[in-house]
Amino acid sequence: MNSKVERHVLFDRHEIEVTVRRLASEISQDYRNQNPLLLGVLRGSFVFLADLIRHLDFPLEVDFIGLSSYGSRTQSSGKIRVVKEPETSVRGRNVLVVEDIVDTGLTTAFLLKYLKRHKPVSVKLCALADKPSRREIPVNIDYLGFTVPNKFLIGYGLDANQKFRNLPDICYLEDKV
Ligand code: PRP
Repeated sequence: MNSKVERHVLFDRHEIEVTVRRLASEISQDYRNQNPLLLGVLRGSFVFLADLIRHLDFPLEVDFIGLSSYGSRTQSSGKIRVVKEPETSVRGRNVLVVEDIVDTGLTTAFLLKYLKRHKPVSVKLCALADKPSRREIPVNIDYLGFTVPNKFLIGYGLDANQKFRNLPDICYLEDKV
């Protein structure tokens, strides 16, 4: 019996753009005069963050933190580690964490705890996608793009074994028997 993997589009580039603009509008209302630090979580958030900030027309700063939880597998190991520290101090800053997806919530929970140890004024979370069916730990998402089904998503920064981050649409892979 032959099996192959098929790729399907879940949200195309136009739906993504509308959603990114909507999130930018919400963020603008709250952060316009706060010179926030937008902290992108590497690597998955880099495409989303790049699009998001181009719709924010007020002073802000950008930095990145590298976190890893999945290694090369498709299931969370539950072990989060910092693989790149931010270069900007978060002390006294209004920090907006930018994530591509919240799945089990373990990464976000780890990150929020990590950041709070460094005494920011505030920390909020913006996530392009939320997969609540997989949640293991409660996470409050302040700015949310899409609620997504329990499928393995790729594209628009999301990877499968480090591939497919360059797809302009958010897609999912499905076994076709
Ligand atoms: C993904 C995603 C989040 C995290 C969410 O990162 O970017 O950071 O997993 O999963 P969780 O809610 O179950 O913790 P990943 O570790 O795959 O690395 P990547 O960003 O380099 O793709």
